[in-house]
Amino acid sequence: MEWCNDLLLGVDEIDRQHKAIFDLLNQLSRVCHAEAGDVVIIGLLDFLEQQVRIHIETEERLMIEHSYPGIDEECRQHWEFAREAAEIRRRIKTEGPSRLLAALIAGQMAKWVVEHIRGHDRQLTDFVRGRIAREPC
Ligand SMILES: [Fe+2]
Ligand SMILES: [Fe+2]
Repeated sequence: MEWCNDLLLGVDEIDRQHKAIFDLLNQLSRVCHAEAGDVVIIGLLDFLEQQVRIHIETEERLMIEHSYPGIDEECRQHWEFAREAAEIRRRIKTEGPSRLLAALIAGQMAKWVVEHIRGHDRQLTDFVRGRIAREPC
């Protein structure tokens, strides 16, 4: 799946993190497809999970800071993704890297990220940008 600039939401920190997660999913899919060695794949999985954790913390901090009303649903979505990432790790470990798992990462997981950015994250960043614009100088 290709990154597309219409996924940029206008909050730099969030945009950078989304792009990094997207690139990591593509990279992980490529090494899985090439059936690369364990060290490479586990290293990428660790890095992806770390980036997802940092990103979730960033969005949670923003939501709390700006009293975002959709915080519960947003957090639920994030847990769902973290669970999916853990499931992919489990499958790679037990089944070994394969074209099937590569397709799942580049297809299902990347699609989930794109839909989440276009839906929930856009709502969140629109709200935050609106609040910042209304703040007194
Ligand atoms: Fe989010
Ligand atoms: Fe996000």
